[in-house]
Amino acid sequence: MQTHTEMGAAARDARSDPPSDGIVVADAHKSFGGVDALAGISLRVAPGEIVAVVGPSGCGKSTLLECVCGLQRPNSGTVSSPPAALMPQRDALLPWLSALDNAALALRAVGETRARARARAHEHFEEFGLTGFERARPSELSGGMRQRVAFLRTLLTGRPVLCLDEPFGALDAITRGQMQQWLAEALVLEPRTVLLVTHDVEEAALLADSIVLLSSRPANVVTTLPVALPRPRRRSDAPIVALRERALQALGEPA
Ligand SMILES: Nc1ncnc2c1ncn2[C@@H]1O[C@H](COP(=O)(O)OP(=O)(O)O)[C@@H](O)[C@H]1O
Ligand SMILES: [Mg+2]
Repeated sequence: MQTHTEMGAAARDARSDPPSDGIVVADAHKSFGGVDALAGISLRVAPGEIVAVVGPSGCGKSTLLECVCGLQRPNSGTVSSPPAALMPQRDALLPWLSALDNAALALRAVGETRARARARAHEHFEEFGLTGFERARPSELSGGMRQRVAFLRTLLTGRPVLCLDEPFGALDAITRGQMQQWLAEALVLEPRTVLLVTHDVEEAALLADSIVLLSSRPANVVTTLPVALPRPRRRSDAPIVALRERALQALGEPA
């Protein structure tokens, strides 16, 4: 895992501007054919804030992120956000490209030459724990490494807003815990405006400044829980455990 200083340098270099505007979603409705996904969602993410969105599978969380990133448009209501980079739910690495070229894709997309894009991506490989795997294909990487490559690619877009769609959902419990810690450290040192979708209330409590709980489909906001707790946080901290129970209760789940 990386030290605070190393990770901070990476994030600082990758970011173009400090966040100045936040995300505002106002009464957003979205349906696909006859299927309602979003039923009038409203939420705000202040600049530099991390807001976690938690809700049951299929409720409309990915749809919400796609609206924030401009990949979908709500049928009614408004969504406004500074330029946002999406880290999709599946890591979406291209299987035929090396780890280095996958990470460099964000820079290729904005017109960097292959050599320059590779060089800039490579500067971060050590701090992302990827040294020695530059030429590996995604199938040769562990789940945690694939997520780090995908996260590096997302950071290298230089966009002030990150939309992370269940970034650790497919990882085993131990790797997930390490990655949560790693992301928390990165975001403490270099705050970005982050919308983090997860189905894991504990992950939300560990990482976020507030937690938006969504109903089952069509998604609406059940309640928003502020997380005014100092960092670093540990899952065994009593306030984290209490918050997890409160969130599960609000979602109607046994705690
Ligand atoms: N592009 C699409 N076309 C048709 N239906 C979709 C599309 N995207 C999402 N849906 C539907 O919208 C609902 C919410 O999906 P999604 O946002 O992926 O939920 P979540 O991310 O919370 O699991 C689901 O019923 C899904 O089938
Ligand atoms: Mg989803």
